[in-house]
This record gives sequence, C-alpha cells and structure tokens, in this order.
Amino acid sequence: MRGDGTDFPRSGPRRLSCDDVTEIPEHLLKRSRERRASLGGDDAPADASAPAAADAPGTAVAPAAAAKAAAPAKVAPVGPPPAKPDPPSVVAYKKRKKIPVWAMMTLSILPLWGFMYVRALTPGPVVVHGPLGDGAKVFAGVCATCHGADGSGGVGRPLNNGAVLKTFPHIEDQLNLVYTGSQAYAIAGLKAYGDPALGHLGFNNAYMPAQGGALTEAEILAVVCDERYNIGGADPASPAYSAEYATWCAEDSPIYAGLQDGSITFDNITTTPAGKGVLPIGTKPRAGTGAS
Ligand code: HEC
Repeated sequence: MRGDGTDFPRSGPRRLSCDDVTEIPEHLLKRSRERRASLGGDDAPADASAPAAADAPGTAVAPAAAAKAAAPAKVAPVGPPPAKPDPPSVVAYKKRKKIPVWAMMTLSILPLWGFMYVRALTPGPVVVHGPLGDGAKVFAGVCATCHGADGSGGVGRPLNNGAVLKTFPHIEDQLNLVYTGSQAYAIAGLKAYGDPALGHLGFNNAYMPAQGGALTEAEILAVVCDERYNIGGADPASPAYSAEYATWCAEDSPIYAGLQDGSITFDNITTTPAGKGVLPIGTKPRAGTGAS
C-alpha cells in the first residue's frame, strides 16, 4: 500500500461503471450518422421506410404503421361533449310549419278588418220612410218653434200626451186646420176647429198660421201623421187607430202616395177610390166633428 491513492490494482479485469455502459464511441456515432444519411437524411421521419417495409408481412414495422393510422381514430372523440338531445316537445316545435311573412302581414291587419266589419254591421240611425219620417222633419223645421220640439206647447197649443187626438177625433179635421189656419175659422164666424165640444179657437189670443201654400198637401199629411203618432202617442196597432194609420200614415199609405203624385187633393179626396170611408177635408174652414 502506497497510501497515495494509486495503490488500487491496475491489472486484472476492469470493472465497468454505469458511465462506461452509456458511453458510445465516437466512431460508432459517426457510422450511424452516415448510415442514416444514406437512408434518407437526418431529418427523414423514422417511419420513412414503413411503406416499403409494410409490403413485407411479418416485419416489425407493419404493426407500428397500423398503430399510427389508428391513432387519429382515438383522437377524434376528444372535443366538446355531444349535445343533449331535445325533448319531444322541443323537436315538435322546431319541426313546426312556420308562418310565411306575407301571411303574418295579412294576419296582423285582421283586428283592423274585424273592427271595420263590426262597424259595417252596426245599424246606423233608424231612417223612417213614409209620412212619419217625412213629417218629423217638417215638424222640426216649421212647427217646433211654436209647439216645442216635443210638442209640449209654447205660443202654440200643446199637442203631446194625446191632446191633439182629443181635439181631432178625425184626422181630416186636423188636416183642414193646418191647411187653413185658425184665424180663417174666426173670420168665417166659426166658434171652434176640431171637436166643437172643446171650443178651441184663439188660444191665448193667438192663431195657428195657415200652412196651405207654404207646405204641399203631402207635407201637411206627413206632419199631421207625426203629430198624431209620434208626438200625440196614437198606437198604430190599437183598434182605435189601426184603420186610420193604414189609410193615411203607413209607409204604403195610398192617400199619401196619391197626394205626392197629385192624383189626390184635399178637395177631391172623397171622390177617389183611395178616399172610401174618408171624410171631406177641404181647403176652406168648416165645422169640425166630434168623437162619434
Ligand atoms: C207661429 C206659431 C205657430 C206655428 C209656427 C205653428 N203653430 Fe200650430 N198653433 C199655433 C197656435 C197659436 C195655436 C192655437 C190656435 C187657436 O187656438 O186658434 C195652434 C194650434 C195648432 C193645432 C191645434 C191644437 C189643438 O189641440 O187645438 C195644431 C194641430 C197645430 N197647431 C199644428 C201645427 C203644425 C202642424 C205646425 C207646423 C206645420 C204648426 N202648428 C205651426 C201656433 C203655431
């Protein structure tokens, strides 16, 4: 033993260390590089020879290539998890037939159309034809100033609540008064117009102005019908007035039609077929008739 650290045995087999095993001699590395370069270069993929090798079954390369080819299949499933399937109701909703735009526009104006339709069906103000309708206009325009719009009276006598029906049990006498006016009665020396028992003449020292000439005879019949059936309250359906109404004031009154076309006048009315059962009217003041 020399004691300087050099006294380990030099002879005999050399003990291998781990470093010795991994150490590759430089000339081998160089040969390896040359060999790889001859096969396709340093950068050639490791499996560059795989296609050629694959032709030879049994070589170790074929399974490796197969594994490589299979690799992408394993990768594919990786990604966002598959969407949850829709419940049937949602599927049905998505599959439903959609309403086209033109139909939506048409449907959107439906409320407007409905409004106009209902408006069209709503009856307007009732238009009464015939003597009653025509007479109401005449009364409002000519008579209401003295008799009141509702016939309750003023300068002129009240006509409503059956008053005018009491004075004139027969419509012919009322037609005569309205045509001639009440002053003509006084001038003729008569004591009353209408029912003699009532003695109506010179109401509050005033007279009823004559309408003959100012109004046509048809207009006078119309306004008298208005006074009896609209203002006076006569019931066209009652036994007392149904015959009078049909003859004089109904929409299809033959006398009203005759007065309008001129075939009937206040002076000839009893001589025409339409005048059967009708009293003379006349255009001059004459004594009136009572209820009987
Ligand atoms: C200027 C006012 C005045 C106007 C307008 C007038 N009247 Fe008179 N009317 C009178 C007066 C006043 C009397 C009462 C006459 C009398 O007592 O002599 C009367 C009486 C009457 C009577 C009789 C009533 C009764 O029971 O005694 C009738 C019917 C009548 N008028 C109808 C009419 C009609 C229809 C018109 C329109 C076409 C009309 N009057 C327009 C003033 C008027």
